[in-house]
Amino acid sequence: MGYLTVEKTALMSSLMEELDRTELGSIRNTVGQLFSVLNNPNVSAGDLTRIIEIDPPLVVKILSRANSAYYGGQKQIKTIQDSIVRLGLNEIREIVIAQKIFKFFTVGDSVGSYSGMKLWKHSIAVALMTKYIFNHQFGNVNKHVYTAGLLHDIGIIIENQFFEDKFRNVLALFSQLKKNLNEIEEMILGFTHADIGAYLAEKWGLPDSLLDAIAFHHNPSQSEYINRAMLLSLNLADQLAHHAKMGFADSKSNEASLNASIEEMGIRKETLTTIIQQVKKEINELENQGLI
Ligand SMILES: [Fe+2]
Repeated sequence: MGYLTVEKTALMSSLMEELDRTELGSIRNTVGQLFSVLNNPNVSAGDLTRIIEIDPPLVVKILSRANSAYYGGQKQIKTIQDSIVRLGLNEIREIVIAQKIFKFFTVGDSVGSYSGMKLWKHSIAVALMTKYIFNHQFGNVNKHVYTAGLLHDIGIIIENQFFEDKFRNVLALFSQLKKNLNEIEEMILGFTHADIGAYLAEKWGLPDSLLDAIAFHHNPSQSEYINRAMLLSLNLADQLAHHAKMGFADSKSNEASLNASIEEMGIRKETLTTIIQQVKKEINELENQGLI
């Protein structure tokens, strides 16, 4: 694929073949909540979406199914809402029943500044902030943008689940050194979470613009800009989440880079402050509802 060097692709494909398990486990809270909602005969697509759209592994599975060869030739599906329409409630029910649960997300296990729960909160915060920044700057309600934010660090979830021992080594060094996660991943794994995330996203059949978002969320200027406005919104949201200490931060907060991104986006700092407050409020509400 165009995103990666031949060497990296070969390395990742040999590792994934060996493991032969490319199904990401989900988060217990979400799947438990979904079971009770799915048992309600009057369940609406809106009720389902609200719970599914905060669970990155489940979003991946559903998008992957909606874009599978079975529906080949049809328009690429980029949102959970459209996936539910295409697949129907029975198929969604089957996916949820078959969904594995991965304990690392819920046991509160942490290494340095990382825990699955903190990464989860970071993913939701970035999803919401990407949506609000994009909507504010481009005047467009685009649910696809939210999905890009939610999945941008899916590669970290992959490393956590498929390469746990090496991932723990990565985290141990990350807490000791003044380097970003990317640099340490390159040293220990030979690839970054952006690389492995984009690699598997392609295998799973996710839309190209999501691959682009996952591959280049740290360095948008290197992308092919399938959706430039989305990628710049996502990159700014990611930096803001690090700056505001919302969940796990895979990069050290960098004031100069943040200011450059704010300037490039042409957004006022007051607007960003309001967006951060709004996102914090929504995350609190999700916590109060027991969803995260
Ligand atoms: Fe990242």
